[in-house]
Amino acid sequence: MEREAVLVGIDVGTSKVCALIGEVARDGSLTIVGKGVVPASGLKKAVVVNIDQTVRSITGAVDHSERLSGYQIDRAFVGVGGQHVESQNSRGAVAVSSHTREVGREDVNRALEVARALSIPSNREVLHVLPRGFIVDGQEGVKDPLGMSAVRLEIETHIVTAAGTAVRNLAKCVQAANVKIDELVANSLASAEAVLSDTERDLGVAVADIGAGTIDLALFLDGSPFKTVVIPVGGNNVTNDIAIGLRTHLPVAEELKLSHGTCGLRNVEAEDEAINVETLGEAAGMRISRLELCQIIEARMREIFEMLRAEIRSVGEGMLPAGVVLTGGAAQLAGAAALGREVLNMPVRVAGPVGVGGLTDNIMNPAFATAIGLLYWGAKGLEAGEYASYETAPANGLPSRVRDALRSLFP
Ligand SMILES: Nc1ncnc2c1ncn2[C@@H]1O[C@H](COP(=O)(O)OP(=O)(O)OP(=O)(O)O)[C@@H](O)[C@H]1O
Ligand SMILES: [Mg+2]
Repeated sequence: MEREAVLVGIDVGTSKVCALIGEVARDGSLTIVGKGVVPASGLKKAVVVNIDQTVRSITGAVDHSERLSGYQIDRAFVGVGGQHVESQNSRGAVAVSSHTREVGREDVNRALEVARALSIPSNREVLHVLPRGFIVDGQEGVKDPLGMSAVRLEIETHIVTAAGTAVRNLAKCVQAANVKIDELVANSLASAEAVLSDTERDLGVAVADIGAGTIDLALFLDGSPFKTVVIPVGGNNVTNDIAIGLRTHLPVAEELKLSHGTCGLRNVEAEDEAINVETLGEAAGMRISRLELCQIIEARMREIFEMLRAEIRSVGEGMLPAGVVLTGGAAQLAGAAALGREVLNMPVRVAGPVGVGGLTDNIMNPAFATAIGLLYWGAKGLEAGEYASYETAPANGLPSRVRDALRSLFP
C-alpha cells in the first residue's frame, strides 16, 4: 500500500501519556508503526499541574515510539481534556451574493465567519469550529447548499473552546518535548473517531470516554457533534472510594478493583467470597469481602452514570436513539454496560478502537480510543485536504486551526 503520510497522535491523560505513530495509506487505512505508553505524572483531572513532570512523561512516550518505529517525531495531533473544555452552537446568516443568487463557496465562508464571530471571552481558546449543516431560505437540514438558488444562507456550527491558560500549559509541555502541534483536538471528538460508526452518528449517539480523572463526553446528532463537555470524575474516584471504604492504600485499592471488581452486583450477592490481599506492604494478610468491595464500586459507578444522564438529558429526552458508547480505560470495569443501560435507560455498549493495523498489541482496548482517534482525526483532515500545508506549515505558537467549512463538509 502506498504511504501517503505519517501522522502522530499524543494523548496526555491523567493516568498515562500515549504517543502513537501511524502511517496513512492512499486508501485511508491506518497502520501503527510506533507506540509509547508511560504512566503520567504532573496532571490532575486531565489538566497540567506540573510542567516538568508532564514534559518528562511526554518525552518518555515520544522516545519509546521513535525507537520502535525508527521515525523522528516532529509534530503531532494532541488531545485536550479537562473540565474547562466547553462547547456552544452558533449560527451565522448572510445574504447570498446578489449577482448570481446561487450559493457559492464564498457565501459559505462568509456565513462561517459570522457564526465564528460570536463573543468568546478573551481568556478562552477556540479549539474547533465545526459546521453542522445549513439552512437555505428557511429550509433546515441542508448538508450541501453549493449551487442552490437562494437569497439567504445560514450555517449552523458547533464551537468547542477551552481555557486559554490550561491549553497554553499543555502546548508548552508538548513543545518542551520537542514536538510541534498540528492541531489540538478535544479528547471526546478524537475518541469518537475511533469507536463510533457513521450510522450511530447519523441516528444520534453519545460517546463517553471514562478515563482516570475525567469523562470526555460528546453528543452527536445528524452526523455531527452538538455538545462537547468534560465531567470531572473517572476511575480514580472509584479507586479512592475503595481505599477509604476498605481503609487501604491506593495501589491496593486499584489492584482490588482491577482483579476483583465489578459493578454487576447480582452474582457477587449470590455468593460472597473473601479476598486475601497477599502483597503490598502493610495491607498484607488483610481479608476483604468481595461483596463489600463491589458495593463500593457499584455505588460510585451508579453516581457516574447519573452524572452522564444529567448531561444527556440537558439536551432533551429521546435525542440519542443509538444510545451511549462507553470507552476509556474505566469503561472496562465488568458490568459497566449493564449498569449504564439500567441508569441511562438507553442502549449502551463498551467499545475500543477498531480498524487499525500494525503494532496493535495492548492498544486495541478502550483506554487507547483517544490516542488512536487522534490519528483518525488527522487522517480525515488529510483526506479532506485540510493539511495541504502539512509539510511546511509554521507550527510554533498556538495552533487553533479552523477547519475549512467546505472541505470538512464536502470532502
Ligand atoms: N480492567 C479495568 N477495569 C476497571 N477499570 C480499569 C480497567 N483498566 C483500566 N481501568 C481504569 O481506567 C482508568 C484509566 O483510563 P484511561 O487510560 O482511559 O485514563 P486517562 O486517559 O489517563 O485519564 P483521563 O482521560 O481522565 O485524563 C484508571 O482509573 C484505571 O483504574
Ligand atoms: Mg483519557
